[in-house]
Amino acid sequence: MRVCIVGASGKLGQYMVQHALDRGYEVVGMCREQSVGKLDAFKGRITVIPGATNDREVIERAVAGCDGVLVVLVPRGVHGYSTGTAQAVLDYAPAGARLVFSCGWHITLDGKDVYSWKLKALVNIAGPLAKLARFADLDDQVEACRRVFASDTRWTVVRGSDLKEGESQGLPVWSRHVGDPILESNITRRVDFALFMVEALENDELVREAPAIGGRRTPSALMHAASE
Ligand SMILES: NC(=O)c1ccc[n+]([C@@H]2O[C@H](COP(=O)([O-])OP(=O)(O)OC[C@H]3O[C@@H](n4cnc5c(N)ncnc54)[C@H](OP(=O)(O)O)[C@@H]3O)[C@@H](O)[C@H]2O)c1
Repeated sequence: MRVCIVGASGKLGQYMVQHALDRGYEVVGMCREQSVGKLDAFKGRITVIPGATNDREVIERAVAGCDGVLVVLVPRGVHGYSTGTAQAVLDYAPAGARLVFSCGWHITLDGKDVYSWKLKALVNIAGPLAKLARFADLDDQVEACRRVFASDTRWTVVRGSDLKEGESQGLPVWSRHVGDPILESNITRRVDFALFMVEALENDELVREAPAIGGRRTPSALMHAASE
């Protein structure tokens, strides 16, 4: 399988590169020009295509011939960076390719998610402040995902909980809705978020799903497992 990773140089991206290589996939990593050096550890094992991840011409080249595209949606700046990335991938990925996008729990597919006061405060207070500072625009990721949901591609949108570093605890658990008890602990190891993204490439049950994920060994996931 040939896989393109859009945003390969970031923390999530680098973990995805490693998981993809572990599976024997051929990897094309796309990242900003100034970040190419962050992929030195993979030199000779992946093809690196430098460019802004919303540059349509670069995305077109990067996804050519790929069976799967893993996309880190980054709502940086206030000029629709995420939306540009998502639209270019939707437009240029080969027909039938598996497209897997990353985002946060604040994205909703059907409006049935139930959010904690903490997450609501983050979105309603920190979100506008980040936009005011022209640092990031959460609405951009919302629009990017709206376009993905509306597309007739074979997409999956993986919605990450709070993240932390550390060794893998295995494939995260998931649910269709934030607020479900299994996700209550709201924490996932970043390496496992990446694992879920890569595994989704070959899991057709996740096509046109927006799984909200949580760590497999968190108290809420363990409690759910014990009750089954
Ligand atoms: N952080 C969290 O707690 C959290 C929680 C839930 C979901 N998520 C989701 O997880 C994914 C990865 O996020 P992450 O926080 O873990 O960070 P990350 O993997 O390190 O990704 C950050 C990305 O942003 C890019 N970036 C940084 N500054 C930029 C700029 N000024 N302009 C354009 N791109 C820039 C980085 O590219 P360079 O390598 O070129 O700098 C990198 O690809 C995102 O989709 C996010 O929505 C994160």
